[in-house]
Amino acid sequence: MINDLWYKNAILYCLSVGTYMDANGDGIGDFTGLMRRLDYLHGLGITAIWLMPFQVSPQRDDGYDVADYYGVDPRYGTLGDFVEFTHAAEQRGIRVLIDLVINHTSNEHPWFKEARKDPHSKYRDWYVWSKKKPANANTGMVFPGVQKSTWSYDEEAKAWYFHRFYEFQPDLNTSHPEVQAEILKIMGFWIQLGVSGFRMDAVPFIIATKGPDVRKPEEQYDMLRMFREFLQWRQGDAIVLAEANVLPDTDMEYFGDDGDRMHMMFNFQVNQHLFYALAAADTRPLVKALKATKPRPATAQWGLFLRNHDELDLGRLTEEERQIVFAAFGPKKEMQLYDRGIRRRLAPMLDGDQRRLELAYSLLFTLPGTPVIRYGDEIGMGDDLSLPERNCARTPMQWSNEPQGGFTKSEKPRLPVISGGPYGYEHINAAIQRRHPESMLNWTERIIRMRKEVPEVGWGDFTVIPTRDPAVLVMRYDWRNNWVLFVHNFDAKPREVTFSVGLDGDNAGYGKLLVNLLAEDHSRADGSGKHRLVIEAYGYRWYRVGGLDYLLRRTEVDAPLHAKTGRRGDGMAAFPPARSQGKMRP
Ligand code: GLC
Ligand code: CA
Repeated sequence: MINDLWYKNAILYCLSVGTYMDANGDGIGDFTGLMRRLDYLHGLGITAIWLMPFQVSPQRDDGYDVADYYGVDPRYGTLGDFVEFTHAAEQRGIRVLIDLVINHTSNEHPWFKEARKDPHSKYRDWYVWSKKKPANANTGMVFPGVQKSTWSYDEEAKAWYFHRFYEFQPDLNTSHPEVQAEILKIMGFWIQLGVSGFRMDAVPFIIATKGPDVRKPEEQYDMLRMFREFLQWRQGDAIVLAEANVLPDTDMEYFGDDGDRMHMMFNFQVNQHLFYALAAADTRPLVKALKATKPRPATAQWGLFLRNHDELDLGRLTEEERQIVFAAFGPKKEMQLYDRGIRRRLAPMLDGDQRRLELAYSLLFTLPGTPVIRYGDEIGMGDDLSLPERNCARTPMQWSNEPQGGFTKSEKPRLPVISGGPYGYEHINAAIQRRHPESMLNWTERIIRMRKEVPEVGWGDFTVIPTRDPAVLVMRYDWRNNWVLFVHNFDAKPREVTFSVGLDGDNAGYGKLLVNLLAEDHSRADGSGKHRLVIEAYGYRWYRVGGLDYLLRRTEVDAPLHAKTGRRGDGMAAFPPARSQGKMRP
């Protein structure tokens, strides 16, 4: 197994250049401004930045409508500024991932302009057309309630074109070899400029078959392998982090049975069930989601998140579960979006209650995968529901209590800075929080530091330990002869739980001592080997199993496969061969 796959234990932080820091005072964040905030990010302890789209764009979908893949939107700076930025990040040991939005272009992209103008242009085939209105034109919208159809008539082309998203985002014909070659060229371009990989937008749609006669789109998974091969040939440590909100039984298609497709995927399944667990103090569906998404090649990794730049999509929950989450976190219509989600930021959803925020973040940092933080959540920023759709949770970063939160010297920032009320920049900002040891910002910095010292979470194999109390989640990770154990109480009331660590054979003795990594209350098992602890409302515990000499016990390779079952723990795949669990065993 390769030891140093950086993404297995990274701390990702996502941000939009346009709302992070404006250096030249025009009201729009820029690369120069972002560069000056790199020391802040370095201090926070993050190890990689995911930049939302910053390429040339009419900005009708926050940059997810690209009009030139090879340039920086002049609002944000120049290509030169971009390279200065990636260099400055690298100097601080911070990697940069960028969004790769190639399911569709903007309708103002020169390719689309050519395509609609001239039926003989080579670009015509780069998009998806139909002479007649396709029968399924009013189905499959990604933004129901806002988006009316998936096919629109183009006067100039005198034909219908396909758009999975908004009508100004015509889909690229991604099955076309020339389009595929162009995608690789785009990847190669940015790799050359210093990025460590891509967050690939809308992956299930990129690989789906498209066309007026396609009733049930089929995924062409091997495209994913092609992207990966190209990347790894050009730059060995570059990765793809796929946005694919899919059901667990297709996860392995995305990762590839041999770990030969996507390096990372966002875990939407766990995300939605985590919010249900937080809303209902019931961890059972979350445990199911954790188990369902467990199978993955040893080299692959989940990207975990709480909130991102989109709505909190609850589409995978049952109707009953969804209603419970709505009632708890987004009861008003204006808080909901696209009939399936909540558009608020995390802090207002949790009533700005730091105990609950810490609980949510502690989970983000200890569930299996690599955490992805959203800018502003580290200080508990709020939302502005007067802004349309997802923009409510995309307001500028609040740096200080200076005018406009210190984001810009302009009086007219691109999106308004949140001002007044409990989440206004006057109270919620990085400068004030830096001065308070117990602030969300300083808590986040400390928890990131601790997360880096428990690589077991990123690398190890997990077991959910039964407690008989659905409000409490106890998980153990095993990696290289070491174990960590986490306890989370989702309830608003204190709980008492009893459990045993569950190590057997030579290791059973270690399970008698749990050393608390964050506070002084350690736990010793009783005579029967059980731990009994009282955990306060929304409480969390991070324990090392067996004492702090654990580093001396760490082995250079993972424990050998279990002699009888041929399995390691309860099933993380070995490498090689990295088959999906439960299937082949050597
Ligand atoms: C992805 C992005 C979203 C965007 C859409 C279209 O879902 O996360 O923000 O609107 O793709 O590109
Ligand atoms: Ca600017």
